[in-house]
Amino acid sequence: MENRQQWGTRAGFILAAAGSAIGLGNIWRFPAVAYENGGGAFFFPYLFALLTAGIPLLVLEFIIGHKYRGSAPWSFSRIHKKAEWLGWWQVAISFIISTYYSVVIAWALSYTVFAFNLKWGNDTEKFLFGHYLKLAETPGQFGGIVLSVFIPLALIWIINLSVLYKGVKKGIEAANKIFLPTLVVLFLIIVIRAVTLDGAVEGLNAFFKPDWDKIADGKVWIAAYSQIFFSLSIAFAIMITYSSYLPKKSDLTNNAFITGFANSGFELLAGIGVFSVLGFLAQQEGVPVSEVVKGGVGLAFVVFPKIINEFPAFNAFFGVLFFLSLTLAGLTSLISISETYVAGIQDKFGIKREKAVFIGGGIAALLSLIFASNGGLYFLDVVDYFINSFGVALAGLAEVVIIAWIVRELNQFQSHANSVSDIMLGAWWKICLSIITPLVLGYMMIDNIRTNLK
Ligand code: PFF
Repeated sequence: MENRQQWGTRAGFILAAAGSAIGLGNIWRFPAVAYENGGGAFFFPYLFALLTAGIPLLVLEFIIGHKYRGSAPWSFSRIHKKAEWLGWWQVAISFIISTYYSVVIAWALSYTVFAFNLKWGNDTEKFLFGHYLKLAETPGQFGGIVLSVFIPLALIWIINLSVLYKGVKKGIEAANKIFLPTLVVLFLIIVIRAVTLDGAVEGLNAFFKPDWDKIADGKVWIAAYSQIFFSLSIAFAIMITYSSYLPKKSDLTNNAFITGFANSGFELLAGIGVFSVLGFLAQQEGVPVSEVVKGGVGLAFVVFPKIINEFPAFNAFFGVLFFLSLTLAGLTSLISISETYVAGIQDKFGIKREKAVFIGGGIAALLSLIFASNGGLYFLDVVDYFINSFGVALAGLAEVVIIAWIVRELNQFQSHANSVSDIMLGAWWKICLSIITPLVLGYMMIDNIRTNLK
């Protein structure tokens, strides 16, 4: 791939990779997962998963992109001529995720506007499902597109596709250089206010209180590994694509460590912020913290508006800050997810970026309308469930098995990274990828299938 676009600076690449990793998952998934899986004790499996699978796989994906200088399908086809499908499988997962991830960002954008006058009122649940989403009474019922979701969704796609249209340096890098630092500043302001609220200490106690018995539970370890894979955007073709734009001289291993720790740092920050405000809410309502803990859509769009209503002062200000943060965190991830198919189409058909953005982005944007309908939330739940249960584990497992056991390229990849990095990859890296990761991902897949057959 000659004349491939490149990142302008090293910081630009790291910001883009961290921007991809730091997403909705950090804010609404991690805090609840950690709480349910042992609280303070969860940090051990979590850190273990980060060091034995997260960072090693991130290094691997950075090497693949950097070495083959192409999108995921292109790169896998160079690794083994029969492995191109794996690249497309990963791209397909990203494509599908982009169709509904964009819709959730659109909700966050709407809520940023609603926050100015706390439009959601007191019954935040009724507002979300009834007033805003106009959710159908019965699942599967399709009554057309909901205009209040369509407008922000169109805006999100326009922003996303314009960034991609402008290319790697002028589009993706430039956007991340603005969005990610802004997100961190906004989020820090929220967290500082959150920890000083009444009841924050009780919330943090609930979050950090270790339940050591849980450490012996296999499910907790699976939860830790799943969170790491999801959060670091691994096996979605994303990191391969981003690293294919790195210049020849790039410290891959170091970049992976920085990205991994930046993501986990933000995750911890989000956990502290979320549990501080949950502690505050529990105190306002006179209930134990355990009764208000939630993750996902319910946390962001039902519980958070409720908390903002009860803020002692500057409610609207903090409301805007929170939903704007959610929007920015989501956008930088959406950009990376969408870039996987833009790059894939470009490499496969030899067409220009602009055309690939129109075709790939255009189809994804059209499909996202399904989730902007009044049955949208039901569809979203089903698709998200299947993608997470079957898509990701298979994609990651096939990746490590092909590389470590079929083509047996780990030694070569190790030399590739060590020739450009300050941090030397040793035997630990190969053990993580050839033994630990395949075992965990294999177990995860079997476990998913078993629970689904029940
Ligand atoms: N890592 C991002 C997040 O945590 O939100 C992006 C992402 C990864 C989104 C995987 C969705 C997904 F399934």
